[in-house]
Amino acid sequence: MGSLKGRDLVSINDFTDAEVQNVLETAVEMEGIIGKPSNLCEGKVLATLFFEPSTRTQFSFQTAMLRLGGGAIGFSDISGTSVSKGETLQDTIRIIESYADIIAMRHSQPNSLSLAAQYSSKPVISGGEGKGEHPTQTLLDLYTIKKELGRLDVHIGFYGDLKYGRTVHSLIMGGSRFGANFTCIAPHSLQMPGEYVKKAEAKGSKVEFCEDVNQVIGNLDVLYVTRLQKERLSPEDDYQKLKSLYHVDKTLLSKMKPKSAVMHPLPRVGEIEEDIDLDPRSAYFRQAANGVPVRMAVIASLLGAK
Ligand code: CP
Repeated sequence: MGSLKGRDLVSINDFTDAEVQNVLETAVEMEGIIGKPSNLCEGKVLATLFFEPSTRTQFSFQTAMLRLGGGAIGFSDISGTSVSKGETLQDTIRIIESYADIIAMRHSQPNSLSLAAQYSSKPVISGGEGKGEHPTQTLLDLYTIKKELGRLDVHIGFYGDLKYGRTVHSLIMGGSRFGANFTCIAPHSLQMPGEYVKKAEAKGSKVEFCEDVNQVIGNLDVLYVTRLQKERLSPEDDYQKLKSLYHVDKTLLSKMKPKSAVMHPLPRVGEIEEDIDLDPRSAYFRQAANGVPVRMAVIASLLGAK
């Protein structure tokens, strides 16, 4: 296994299987040090550059660095930065890399993360890129599946906006490398793009498609729900009609296996009823919390502190 020191994480495919496993193992170790003083990344600075809104990714990256004994700077709204005056991404990166030791960035534009990685001599971590990928979400999703179910060779049902939802694009590729199979539950207009399906199938995964969650719910180990990416839908998509297709409630949960998990990268916007939150299979808040140890593991590894 190569060292992760100094590397970028733009796609889940930037890490080998062994490197992904290593990050997941390091995350277990990181869970043990949360709440205790740590100097693993003392003197190091993380910059979080969020050109799109975020709660979980942005704050869990910052929390992760603070838990490691480092510091954090950043923005979540370009109106307070010189981007609003027209500064290019490459110039922003040139400046930030001279202030910080590692950069976590979210951006709406395709190839923006690769561009940032190209212009930065410091590690660049994707915090999500448009309708492309969200690799650290996949690391924490794999960590959550292992923790909830004890294994990764599970049957995952993706249920939501599979076309524009970047979390499922990274997870179908990441999960396929550890024996997962998939059912993509969506209307044709929001189905999983073929490029990601092909990559999962090339790793030996079975990928099936259906429109009605009731057809498959009893066979799933993980129901992975995503919201409709309203900000990315095309004008001809009928948001309200599409939104009405997705609904997770007590009736649906009653058809799931006793040992299974409902996951969601969050935010949810009505697709999961709050009255299932206390069901032991509802794993989405534990999933979000896992973002901290997993991102601690990523930061520490890329900085060569682990
Ligand atoms: N899961 C996730 O990416 O959430 P945020 O958009 O709040 O970061």
